[in-house]
Amino acid sequence: MTVPTTPAPTLANQATTSSAVSTAPLPAVARHLNCDHPDMSQLRSQSTTPLQAPGSHHAGIVSAEPALTESVSTESARAEPAPVKRRLSVLAAAGSGTRLGRHMPKALVEVGGAPMVLRALRGLDAAGITHIAVTAPTDALVDFEQLIGSALPDLSATVRVVAGGASRQASVAAGLRSLEQFRPDARTPVLIHDAARCLTPPALIDRVARAIENGANAVIPTLPVTDTIKPLASGTHIDEGDDALSPLDPSIDRSRLRAVQTPQGFTWDVICRAHEYGASRAADESSAATDDAGLVEALGLTVMSIAGDMMAFKVTTELDIALAQACLDHGYAPDA
Ligand code: CTP
Ligand code: MG
Repeated sequence: MTVPTTPAPTLANQATTSSAVSTAPLPAVARHLNCDHPDMSQLRSQSTTPLQAPGSHHAGIVSAEPALTESVSTESARAEPAPVKRRLSVLAAAGSGTRLGRHMPKALVEVGGAPMVLRALRGLDAAGITHIAVTAPTDALVDFEQLIGSALPDLSATVRVVAGGASRQASVAAGLRSLEQFRPDARTPVLIHDAARCLTPPALIDRVARAIENGANAVIPTLPVTDTIKPLASGTHIDEGDDALSPLDPSIDRSRLRAVQTPQGFTWDVICRAHEYGASRAADESSAATDDAGLVEALGLTVMSIAGDMMAFKVTTELDIALAQACLDHGYAPDA
């Protein structure tokens, strides 16, 4: 295996910036995930679980390692080998699925006879993602390893299973740390994806990756919202089934609102900086960012959008399971 050894450049002049963050000295990529920031220290204690794949020659890597260099044709035999395009991904699958209420990790729940995590993994693989870190609940690591190990013969990507964290944000940070071994450079695309969006079309994943490859720094798929959205007045809340009266603030102009999906695409440098900057929020879900684009926004960088896809909806409740099953039954999503 030949891993490009391009020194990790800094992020000078990347992205539209609007805060002091953009003028601060920008650390080298390698430091982002090895840094001594106190909030990253907890990630270092989380395990990265190596799997043994049949025929694998790379400890900890659970599929045939895609070549990182290509041989050249006879006409250009003296030319430097062209680097193969790398596309990295963190597949967030370490959630407990509280709202689904199945008393098992949501990513292991089957839709159309296949666990959601496998459907999502196959979607990333089909879209040309070359290196994937799957986050798994700490107490279900063995189950995830076995399941994903059994799927390897059909996958091209290199896959690692890593222990997730207390929040989705912490899980993604753990996944990013494990991807560092593939020595991405500053502009290598990294797609952060939810296993719960298990029917996401590979075409959407590919479009997000291409947007990064074509020069964007942070790109997310979004859809128009179909409901009118009104904010609760500050400090108020409505519990499920609650008939107590709660005041609302005026509606937000619906035409400007977009519902956000995954995969969310970033350059390696931008996503690492965002997670480092927001690391103190990751301890639990109440303070954590609900998506990675939110962390990038906190850096003062502009996040761009492309059109999302209705099939990238997130499975959260039993109603969503029924919807996913119906989509498969009616051919809206290809079976995997
Ligand atoms: N996730 C994760 N690590 C966490 C929490 C969530 O990797 N600590 C992943 C989930 O597995 C899921 C995605 O992030 O694929 C989106 O999270 P969500 O839909 O909220 O899933 P859960 O957290 O599992 O569900 P719930 O909030 O109902 O418990
Ligand atoms: Mg959750």
